[in-house]
Amino acid sequence: MADSASTADTAHGGADSPEANRRDFIYIATGAVAAVGAAALAWPFIDQMNPAADTLALASTEYDLSQVPEGQQVVIFWRGKPVFIRHRGAAEIAAAKKDDGAALRDPQTDAQRVVQANGQPGKEAYLIVEASCTHFGCIPTFGGGPYGGWLCACHGSVYDTAARIRSGPAPENLKVPPYVYTTDAVVKIG
Ligand code: FES
Repeated sequence: MADSASTADTAHGGADSPEANRRDFIYIATGAVAAVGAAALAWPFIDQMNPAADTLALASTEYDLSQVPEGQQVVIFWRGKPVFIRHRGAAEIAAAKKDDGAALRDPQTDAQRVVQANGQPGKEAYLIVEASCTHFGCIPTFGGGPYGGWLCACHGSVYDTAARIRSGPAPENLKVPPYVYTTDAVVKIG
């Protein structure tokens, strides 16, 4: 009985019949063509999402450090984000180096905070960091807090003169953007 049912199933295009296999092939082939069509359609949209040449040009920005007097900082914009360029005095640098061995939440030496993107040492006089608190992104102000660095007034995070987090809720040091010196005085960020 089972044999006759199986024979009938095959005869009427059951799961294992040649007809069923042909149907499966047609479904798979149709799906594959649809996928290729979707990919071909998607490509122009994806391509449009790539940054234009003028946008790419803004991906990096150059700044002449000679414009920043010692003991002061400027805020420049890189990719729409504010960045501090601080010209540190000897006392700021010494204070940062003195705490290289302290119990730091996000341990980095002062020298590591001024390394260029190519791995070469930077200039310890110029600290370049993103002006965005690593807690919730407020802009810290310089000169507040017990470490002589930055204070974020939003929730009280305190950064030292190497912009390392020292107390408060922020989990990490202020981020160092990628940069290289293109001349002795000019830095290129990004
Ligand atoms: S955003 Fe800076 S402490 Fe919260």
